Amino acid sequence: MNILVAYYSETGNTRKVAESIFASLRHTGKKLLPIDQAEDLEAYALIFCGFPVQHHSVPARMVHFLRSIPKGKQIALFATHGSLRGGEKALGAFFAAISQLPGQTIVGTFGCRGQVKPQLIDEWMEAPQHQAWAREAQSANGHPDAADLQDAREFAETMLYAAEHIHGSVKNPG
Ligand SMILES: Cc1cc2nc3c(=O)[nH]c(=O)nc-3n(C[C@H](O)[C@H](O)[C@H](O)COP(=O)(O)O)c2cc1C
Repeated sequence: MNILVAYYSETGNTRKVAESIFASLRHTGKKLLPIDQAEDLEAYALIFCGFPVQHHSVPARMVHFLRSIPKGKQIALFATHGSLRGGEKALGAFFAAISQLPGQTIVGTFGCRGQVKPQLIDEWMEAPQHQAWAREAQSANGHPDAADLQDAREFAETMLYAAEHIHGSVKNPG
């Protein structure tokens, strides 16, 4: 099975997670590529797609990439975000990504925190409507850390197992 780990990353957090996922895939037909270099997507059965959460959703470039994936693939989504892990803000971004993937099988999702540029936090602290979220983002400093990257490796192994062994998973109807 050919596997692609495709990611979009502005400050390197999502790239670190992508690299950990890639390293843990004991597989010969695998590639790690930023989304703007990923082509010939038809060649892959399982595609990991990683992005930073931006404005509580999926960056436009990632939306474009997700829409460009030929139908009938197995997709594993991963993201980094400043907000708390498992929080409703991060979950909202995953739902937004899934809504761009009708006709694909979503094998699973993984999210972890990624540190946020200090100047961004300073800016958001100035705006009352962003303050609560900016406070949350402050504690993402130092992420992704070693534990996050270990979790990412375990996620990757689980996704690979699911893609190879679990047939007839429910397709996203869109
Ligand atoms: C323009 C911008 C908007 C962001 N918006 C959010 C957000 O809405 N929610 C969140 O949890 N993190 C947000 N973040 C923080 C990033 O998701 C986080 O720092 C991520 O780990 C960056 O990943 P990267 O280094 O791969 O680009 C934002 C970052 C930027 C630059």
